[in-house]
Amino acid sequence: MSARTALITGGTSGIGKATARTLHDRGYRVAVTGQRSESVARTREELPDDILVLQSDARSLSEIDKVVSEVGAHFGSLNTLFLNAGVNRPMTLEYWDEAGYDEVFAVNTKGVFFTLAKAVPILADGASVIVTVGIGATRSLTGSSVAAGSHGAMLSMIPTLALELAPRRIRINAVSPGMTDTPMTRTSIRTVTEDVAGTMTAMAENNPFGRLAIPDDIARTVAFLASDDAAYITGQEIVVSGGAGLAI
Ligand SMILES: NC(=O)c1ccc[n+]([C@@H]2O[C@H](COP(=O)([O-])OP(=O)(O)OC[C@H]3O[C@@H](n4cnc5c(N)ncnc54)[C@H](OP(=O)(O)O)[C@@H]3O)[C@@H](O)[C@H]2O)c1
Repeated sequence: MSARTALITGGTSGIGKATARTLHDRGYRVAVTGQRSESVARTREELPDDILVLQSDARSLSEIDKVVSEVGAHFGSLNTLFLNAGVNRPMTLEYWDEAGYDEVFAVNTKGVFFTLAKAVPILADGASVIVTVGIGATRSLTGSSVAAGSHGAMLSMIPTLALELAPRRIRINAVSPGMTDTPMTRTSIRTVTEDVAGTMTAMAENNPFGRLAIPDDIARTVAFLASDDAAYITGQEIVVSGGAGLAI
């Protein structure tokens, strides 16, 4: 039987990079995208040689076309599409401007939607699509309104997309991380305090399980949703937060 194939957007850092390693370890042929050239070059050094690392800006429909065509030529078809590229610009209401708002929605919503739309022709029947949303889309965190809205828009689309993809048994589900120890989280904390380590320790102490998520926590959930063990699950959200967000 030929190896399963996976495309991971935003696979040059954090959750996406951990998922690339996890799926590769499980025998998948993997391609990842990243936006910045230095990040793409570093990832080519860090990930196994047979992982395809492509530079592509999720905001650009023509760049999405190129990725889909390159991945189609390389793999033939895709069994897993992990739509994970995302940005966060933590700011309260009074600091937002139009450019910042448009950027967040362009990556987190438009980029995700059109990568899916353009990849449909190369998705194998029975493929699994997983979208990174985030616990912030349904709970509140000061400074996260725009990121929450951009991810929440995807969360609202997923049940409808699930029905549209069901005739080909293509599943689409959301994975929603709680606070996860990634470069994005550290950069976001640094915008409000220099004490990144202390802030992360305090956040971990507030979590019901006493720790933040690590990228592997999310990667293993993505691997489950990609697998045949999840063959009858579509249109759903799995929150991976160690219980964060449950308290009233
Ligand atoms: N970390 C958390 O606590 C948390 C919680 C909830 C949800 N999330 C969501 O999880 C996803 C992954 O986050 P992370 O924490 O792993 O962040 P990260 O370490 O900053 O990784 C983000 C990834 O997205 C890529 N990316 C950013 N802008 C892009 C663009 N315009 N086009 C293509 N790729 C782009 C980055 O590429 P470069 O490496 O080239 O910059 C990188 O590979 C995001 O959607 C985020 O909103 C994270």
